Formats: sequence, C-alpha cells, structure tokens
Amino acid sequence: MNEIETASELPSKRVFYLATSPKFFPVIATGLQKSGLNNTTQPGWPRLVIEKPFGHDLNTACEYNDRITDIYPEENIYRIDHYLGKAMIQNILTMRFANMFFEPIWNKNYIDNIQIISTERMGIKNRGKYYDRAGALLDMVQSHLLQMLALIAMEPPADMSTASIRQEKIKVLCSLPELGPENVEENVVLGQYSGRKEGQEYIKGYQEEDNVRPDSSTETFAAIKLNIDNLRWQGVPFYLKTGKRLQTKNTKIFVQFKTDFHPSLRGADSPEANLLIIKVQPREGVSLQFNAKEPGSQDKIAPVFMDFCQEAPRELKETPAAYEELLAGLFRGDQSLFTHWQGVKNSWQFIDSLRKSAEKIDLTPEKYEAGSRGPEAAKNLIQSESRIWWDRKNINRHSPV
Ligand code: BG6
Repeated sequence: MNEIETASELPSKRVFYLATSPKFFPVIATGLQKSGLNNTTQPGWPRLVIEKPFGHDLNTACEYNDRITDIYPEENIYRIDHYLGKAMIQNILTMRFANMFFEPIWNKNYIDNIQIISTERMGIKNRGKYYDRAGALLDMVQSHLLQMLALIAMEPPADMSTASIRQEKIKVLCSLPELGPENVEENVVLGQYSGRKEGQEYIKGYQEEDNVRPDSSTETFAAIKLNIDNLRWQGVPFYLKTGKRLQTKNTKIFVQFKTDFHPSLRGADSPEANLLIIKVQPREGVSLQFNAKEPGSQDKIAPVFMDFCQEAPRELKETPAAYEELLAGLFRGDQSLFTHWQGVKNSWQFIDSLRKSAEKIDLTPEKYEAGSRGPEAAKNLIQSESRIWWDRKNINRHSPV
C-alpha cells in the first residue's frame, strides 16, 4: 500500500471494513496497528468500519470499545447501522425541522402513541450460527429500531451538524428506562416462528433451521412498550415491533394523534384519530390520515389520506440503496450516518436490562406460525390499552399505505 500510494502520489485514505464476529473487532484493530497499515505515508486517514452488532452484551461492547479507541479516535470509527442510510430515515429530521406544522404538535399534548414497526417475511436464511446468539432483540431492536426511535423522539439540535444531531440522539437513548422484571412481564412479548405447510412446500420452523439448536429459545419476534421519561414524551407510549417470518415485509413509523375532538363529535361515532405514517419500505413516503366531510347532503365524517410517494418522481428512480449511501458518507467523512459509541452504549444498557429481566422471569418466546401476524400476546399488549397495532389491514381501506 505504501508503495502504491507513494508511486502514484495518492492520499493515504484507507478504509478497513470489519464484517466479522464482534469478538474479532479489537483483535483486527490491534493487528492493523501492529502491521503498520494504520501508519499513512501520505496525508489521509485510516478509517475503521464496524458492522453491527457491536459486542454480545454491554460488558463486551464496553471492553471492545476501550480496546479499539486505544488505537482509533472516535472520528475514525464508523459504526454501521444501515437503517441510517435509508432514504426515509434520513428524511425524518428534515420533515420534523423543515416544516412549521410538525414541531408544535410533536409532544405529549397532541400525540397519543408512536409505533415503530419493522417486519419481515424472510426467515434467518443461512445465518443460524449468528442469529441463534443474537435473536431479534440484538439483531433489530438494539440497533435499527432504537435508532429510528432516537430520530423520532430527539429534541431539535442546535444545528444540523453531525455532532449536534448525535448529541440529541444520545440524550434520547440515555432516557430509555431500565426494564426490571415487572416491566418486562407487562411490556415485552417475545416470539419464535414455527413451521407451516404452504401448498407443496414446507416452511421450516426456527428450531428446524440450519445451525440452530433444536431446543433453542432465541426470539425471532419482539414487541416492546416503553416510555421516554422526559418533558416532551412523559406518558406517551412508544411501541416497537419486529419479527421474522411474518405476513409482510414492512417498515413504518406510525404517529397517532390524540382524539380530543370538539365535544359534539365525541361519542360512539367519533372521528378517527389523525395518523402520520412514515413509510420506510418497501414503498417510501409519508401518508397523513385526517378527517373530512363526506360528499353529499349527510353530515358524515370520514378519514381521508394525503399521500406523498418518494419513489414517484422520475429523476429519483436511481436513488442509492442504504449501503451505497453509507459508503459514500464514509468516504466523505460524514459520520451522521453512523452511530456514536455513547448511543450504542445506551442502547446496550436498555437491551441488557431487558434481557436480564426476561431471563429472571423465564420469559420464553411464544410460538407463532410462519407467515402469520406474530404471537397473540403482542396483540394483547396493545389492545389491553385500547389501542391497536397499525397496519395495512386496519387502516381505512382507501388508504394507500
Ligand atoms: C439486518 C439484520 O441488520 O437487517 C437482518 O441483521 C435483517 O436480520 C435486516 O433481515 C433487515 O434489513 P432491511 O433493510 O431488509 O429491513
């Protein structure tokens, strides 16, 4: 590398991309240092990219981080969370802070609950070895779902610089509650898919997948209710849901507003709640459900939708995929698309407390059939509070969701 850079007068811009088991992160970082590969000969930098999950639990994450940051400063470490490269996730801050009408109502006075949902049709493919140790809590919640939550719940940053945005996200992750055994019992549902015959084909249950222990109790589904204890969000439940082998592949954020309508409109026939839906995938865009008078002479109120579809404009057809965005950010040195250690640490604290409490109360995952909508208990988690999980089926049938 030295020879090539010197001969071609290239800057020493070196990226080392670690997509390995987390236990090798510090080993490789040390190896890179020992081999001299970190010592750039020309002006430039060595950057270290780290795939998730970062560690196996809070302790290992802290240990690995200490060892890595002995060698690389934080500004040279790029922790990947590919959801941060998704177009609509990047859009959350723009929508919130480049519009006058969101910020004044973005709080406990107007919002009833927020649902962050990411479901998949796919199973674990050939990743049994990794997945059986990770489960849905590490694979999806600790990273992707909590990053979405941080962007939705954060305070306005001082400016749109990476440092200011990260600072506000970290504050949210820092306000996540520690989940004790009673909290977990009441607010967490875990599930695991079982096999199902589909025509001639048999879809394997999780325990039948390759490289998975036949008696594994690893969760492939998680639904969590949590509260963020700060002035803006006190009393507003955030519901997170994710799972493999469910009915649809879908990532959406639902912001449900309160229904403090005019007194004459309250009652059995009261209008539907306003809903803001941020559609992350497969379609990208935003829908807004609000109430309007139905055409005709009767005074009937019905929900209507405004729909913004991100993929529609022709010129956006070739929008980069999430990983392309991240790689471009990496070469530019834009760390806003990557996670900061403090945020990762806070996410670990939350997930660690949840996992430890789940173990204490022996919370075993409830079985759900592959291709279904997940365990029954997840429905009860939200219905017991007179709310429902939003999805295509229960939103007004004219909805473009
Ligand atoms: C990865 C997880 O981070 O995200 C996978 O390890 C999961 O298990 C994937 O399937 C989901 O990503 P996307 O972009 O398809 O929603």
